[in-house]
Amino acid sequence: LIDEKNKFYEINKETARFFFSNLTKNESGLNYLYNRKINNKTIKQFGLGYSLNKWDDLYKYLKFRGYKEADAQKLGLIGKKSSNDGYYDKFRNRIMFPIIDTKGRVIGFGGRVLDNSMPKYLNSQETPVFNKGEHLYGLNLVNKFSDKKRIILVEGYMDVIALFSKGINCGVASLGTALTERQAKLLKRYGENVYICYDSDQAGINATDRAIEVLLKEEIEPKIINLGDYKDPDDFLKENSVDQFEKTINESFNHIDYRIHINKKKYNIDEAEGKIKFTIEIAKIIKRLKSPIEKDVYIEKISKEMNISKEAIEKEVFGNTIKHI
Ligand code: CTP
Ligand code: MN
Ligand code: MN
Ligand code: MN
Ligand code: MN
Repeated sequence: LIDEKNKFYEINKETARFFFSNLTKNESGLNYLYNRKINNKTIKQFGLGYSLNKWDDLYKYLKFRGYKEADAQKLGLIGKKSSNDGYYDKFRNRIMFPIIDTKGRVIGFGGRVLDNSMPKYLNSQETPVFNKGEHLYGLNLVNKFSDKKRIILVEGYMDVIALFSKGINCGVASLGTALTERQAKLLKRYGENVYICYDSDQAGINATDRAIEVLLKEEIEPKIINLGDYKDPDDFLKENSVDQFEKTINESFNHIDYRIHINKKKYNIDEAEGKIKFTIEIAKIIKRLKSPIEKDVYIEKISKEMNISKEAIEKEVFGNTIKHI
């Protein structure tokens, strides 16, 4: 079984090398990356590649190297044609991102189109060596270069790459899935402080909420980075300096302040109804805090901000039971 896995890792590595060598010879692929401010050093660091706009480029290469169709198919690199018994490449005309684990093994791939066609990204299916929910993109480099003081969870390949290319060696992406318990455990292991820096669109906001829940369950209290009007970290770093990004880290919210911030935008707190709904929502969040001191601090804060008595908020949080003895 170990031998079989090693064979899969080898095929994946050969494939990554093949895509990389394609890229070095492909002007449109290189230009796409250069336009996105990715230089040769970063291309090498991440082992980026290119899958040609052909139906059987990789297939022919792997066959030539003596690998079996069935194995390449299990790895999601080629598919069987429905018309005859031929095979075709799954990844075509895409920038290729090898996904590498902390042992340096290529476990899967992501591929991005160079234009606006859909789907924008294609990822390896689940394979004998790739279980999406167990890995974080970029963790191999975090393991190598980060001081492990902090780790920043982002959405996408390009966000991780943008961070590293600016010398911020602590970005990882959850590979386009909802954060799993296993990934949360990895975050805990590779960073004393965990920051969430998902996209600022609604999907990113929803994913942030879910990630906070998963992290809290693992006893991690994440901080949440606010990118303002920028779509994602890559977009932010295109127009801002590292210092400015550091500033967003320093100004990041703890998870409670973050929810207060988000809920303020959701409800119109200038009107009675919105103010009530907002405060009830926040009371629910305060209720779940473990520390009585933390509870007290936030009850006080909301009481002042909303001009609602502490007693009323306390009742909302604790019910009508006695709070202290
Ligand atoms: N993703 C995916 N499949 C898609 C779209 C997204 O797997 N069809 C995953 C990818 O890992 C992607 C991440 O979700 O990197 C975030 O998606 P999105 O924000 O849409 O893409 P960006 O990373 O911002 O991509 P780009 O900047 O290249 O447009
Ligand atoms: Mn997104
Ligand atoms: Mn994005
Ligand atoms: Mn982006
Ligand atoms: Mn807490």
